[in-house]
Amino acid sequence: MKPDLSVELCGIKFKNPIVIASATPTKDAKYMRRCVEGGAGGVISKTISPEPLLTKYVSPRFTVLHKKGWPQVYSNYSCEFLATYSVEDWMNELKLARKYCDEAGTVLIGSISGDSLKTWSELAKQVEDIGVDMLELNFGCPHPRDLGYKSGQELGSDPNAAAEVTKVVVDSVKIPVFVKLTAEAVSPVFVAQRVKEAGAGGVTVVNRFPALDVDLDTGRPLLHSTFAGVGGPWMRPITLKWIAKVAREVGLPISATNGINTWKDMIKCTMVGATTIQTCTALMYGTKQYGHIQDFLDGMQNYLAEKGYKSLNDIRGITLPQIKTWDVVDRETKAISKVNNEKCIGCGFCPTWCFYDAISMFEQDGKRKASIDPQICDGCGLCASLCPKDAITMEGKQVFLGDLD
Ligand SMILES: Cc1cc2nc3c(=O)[nH]c(=O)nc-3n(C[C@H](O)[C@H](O)[C@H](O)COP(=O)(O)O)c2cc1C
Repeated sequence: MKPDLSVELCGIKFKNPIVIASATPTKDAKYMRRCVEGGAGGVISKTISPEPLLTKYVSPRFTVLHKKGWPQVYSNYSCEFLATYSVEDWMNELKLARKYCDEAGTVLIGSISGDSLKTWSELAKQVEDIGVDMLELNFGCPHPRDLGYKSGQELGSDPNAAAEVTKVVVDSVKIPVFVKLTAEAVSPVFVAQRVKEAGAGGVTVVNRFPALDVDLDTGRPLLHSTFAGVGGPWMRPITLKWIAKVAREVGLPISATNGINTWKDMIKCTMVGATTIQTCTALMYGTKQYGHIQDFLDGMQNYLAEKGYKSLNDIRGITLPQIKTWDVVDRETKAISKVNNEKCIGCGFCPTWCFYDAISMFEQDGKRKASIDPQICDGCGLCASLCPKDAITMEGKQVFLGDLD
């Protein structure tokens, strides 16, 4: 029997944990239908707001930093605002999306952003009336600022305001309310605790950072001469850290977002305690759009089967009890680097990385090879991590350098 990918969040069953994050791939009913047809377990509509300034986009609004790392590790640097529809038109889009989701058993989540306590409450009720399964409050958007009221990351980084809005929304609706957190200038753990007290059913961890990059010729900020949102696959370790911390210290159900680019990332998110896993940039900056969803599902299923797990529940949170504090980590056991002569191509990089002068090059049958002096090797791990041919391995019981992907 194939491993079970279904998950349950606040009493709502998802046929699989993949949820398409609120963004361009969910920008209207037609796009949400593509998420559904791609096989996603859930879809979060693009955030709706009554603020007209947020519905009118700039052009261009996407660029990429660290492009040479694409498609593995690059930065999605962009400034896209919220849904381009009026609230009234958006409700019609949501009705259609509801129909598409029902046809495929996909969970529909409505994302909202108000401009006053009153509009937060009204929007929440309107979206609930359409029949969405859950709400996500966008307290994480890196762009909407200076609008005369707190929204996006400004709201999410003010624990009192975040708790106040959460309570107003929770009191207005019956469906579960998720809060999308920010890590900008605030600990998501602290805000998660406050919104939990205010009645949130769970938290989405964690939105992108606002950032600044500069045109080299002119010194002008990229895109539209202001700050932009930045994220990408490099965000994964930061996201995993916040999920683990929120899971351990707050105990609310978690939906993961930010830097989740492969099925491996999805497994890791589950291991640190997430239940659903959102993805956006992987579809937008990848090569298959919604076709990636099936790859993610296959990858997770194969992994679980190979490891003998029956469901994602078997691995959820398994990392958490393994996280130690710095005072108790093993400082005694030493690892040593070794060169595999068959794999070494004699590129000569590793001696430059070795700050302990333990690596030298020698000739063997007319070919250059690296050699590591075990008496001098400090066991730091840098050469084994960086070797372009994976020709250096480490021996020792504390060697967890990762899959080096
Ligand atoms: C172009 C773009 C538009 C986005 N729009 C929204 C939005 O309307 N509401 C929201 O809550 N998050 C929005 N996000 C954030 C995503 O939902 C997601 O949390 C973030 O991109 C991190 O996930 P990823 O690394 O999979 O892209 C947007 C992100 C991007 C790149």
